[in-house]
Amino acid sequence: MAKPKVLVTRRWPAAVEAQLSEAFDAVLNTDDKPLSEAELRDALTSYDAVLPTVTDKISAKSFDIAKPQARILANYGVGYSHIDMPGAAGHGMTVTNTPDVLSECTADIAMTLLLMVARRAGEGEREVRAGRWTGWRPTHLVGTKVSGKTLGIVGFGRIGQEMARRAHHGFGMKIVVQNRSRVSPDILARCNATQADSLEELMPQCDFVSLHCPGGAANRHLINTRMLNLMKPDAFLINTARGEIIDELALSRALWFETIGGAGLDVFDGEPRINPDLMDCDNLVMLPHLGSATREAREAMGFRVLDNLTDFFAGREPRDRVM
Ligand code: DGY
Repeated sequence: MAKPKVLVTRRWPAAVEAQLSEAFDAVLNTDDKPLSEAELRDALTSYDAVLPTVTDKISAKSFDIAKPQARILANYGVGYSHIDMPGAAGHGMTVTNTPDVLSECTADIAMTLLLMVARRAGEGEREVRAGRWTGWRPTHLVGTKVSGKTLGIVGFGRIGQEMARRAHHGFGMKIVVQNRSRVSPDILARCNATQADSLEELMPQCDFVSLHCPGGAANRHLINTRMLNLMKPDAFLINTARGEIIDELALSRALWFETIGGAGLDVFDGEPRINPDLMDCDNLVMLPHLGSATREAREAMGFRVLDNLTDFFAGREPRDRVM
């Protein structure tokens, strides 16, 4: 029987590409250039499976085709707000993602940002590299102590829980969470966490707020001027989830006028373009979407896609089906 034809939209770790090419009739993206909307639409009509990732915007327009050949979008990544789900549903497509395997590494990056912005590590690094450091002095780049402070976690899924584990057990932080649904007492008890009923209740209590909720239209600009105004004037905001969750103009104003202490961002609205208003904020640490960027996580993500595809084409339920 002919192997299913699958299209990989970006370069993947070599070990995964090798296995994928053995198991499937795989077309790889050796140039690693993102596909255009038209190319993505063509892919849906000429492959049995398309393997997209966060840089592929598969919009409602991409699904505006008579009859796709693709029956599955096996996404490389846990977040899938770049895929228009009603469009995929309209063609009866299966969509899968890659949860679990990147949770620890993404929480590590959230903790990295939290520490960097609180301890002014970004400012310090910029100063050293620019040759501006004049030596130790008691008042130089004085930051904020992290240990023992209160961390608010917005979205208490796998990554949020990993963040809580690091912050509570590593840094003795008090954890408050806000989540769409009620979190079970057993899960909260692992970090002695409490659950706030709303964001309005969470924001004013926290010294740090870390975002771990999904992106997409439902959470677009969840963190806006009103929410930023509810934060303590010296509190810090961390985002490793999706850029669109924060109104970046509102954030740049809060940073510029120092109505909050600072922010650490790994994701941006419309990335890789960075809103110029953010560029001049010194109390901001920015990373280029590195959450899952470890060899271990990126390989595990690829193998998870492979498992999902193998199950799907063998007529079994893929373990990570999200639709
Ligand atoms: C994801 O998995 O959704 C990330 O943002 C890419 O690692």
